[in-house]
Amino acid sequence: MKKIGIIVGSLREHSFNRIIAEAIPELAPAAEYEFISIDELPLYNGDVDKGPGPEPVQRFREAIGRSDGIMIVSPEYNSGIPGVLKNALDWASTPTRTAVLLRKPAGVVGATPGAKGTMLAQQQIRQTLEAVQVFVLPFQKMYISQVMEKVDTDRRLLTDESTRKYLQRYAESFIRWIDQAPTID
Ligand SMILES: Cc1cc2nc3c(=O)[nH]c(=O)nc-3n(C[C@H](O)[C@H](O)[C@H](O)COP(=O)(O)O)c2cc1C
Repeated sequence: MKKIGIIVGSLREHSFNRIIAEAIPELAPAAEYEFISIDELPLYNGDVDKGPGPEPVQRFREAIGRSDGIMIVSPEYNSGIPGVLKNALDWASTPTRTAVLLRKPAGVVGATPGAKGTMLAQQQIRQTLEAVQVFVLPFQKMYISQVMEKVDTDRRLLTDESTRKYLQRYAESFIRWIDQAPTID
């Protein structure tokens, strides 16, 4: 069974993106899932990025390392990638030659109360992932707009049927694609 690490790009307790992320294991049970926390990561600082680095960074890198693929579920801030997510991806991108993210298959999902489904944030996330030589599931995009109409915030559930199907298809495609992700040296 594939192991998928899920990274949520919002630290908010009542995050919509976390509700979406938490729906994935139930919708696509053909994989095992681990939620990889970014809450405790310090701000990236090359001066402390030496040897194994700070303890939260070690735990974060180990969790990515034991995942067969990474699913990023993130909001958009000011038409771009949330700083906390960029910071986490930067920590996972070093040391350059042996970074845990190198050649790791990834999927990208985003939800917003707005109309554009985090399109601009996802472009920046893909740009960052490309710089780290991460393979992103091609062709398919997973944009969730007007998310407040699609979830039950009290029960923390994704309730909208068509979004559930759309997310299920995306997650299942991602799991199947992991073994086909390009392998190049
Ligand atoms: C600083 C800031 C900037 C934002 N910029 C955008 C934006 O550019 N596009 C967008 O769709 N939503 C934007 N939003 C609204 C977020 O999508 C909304 O707060 C969302 O609930 C955050 O995701 P979360 O619920 O997972 O924490 C912004 C929110 C904040 C706090």
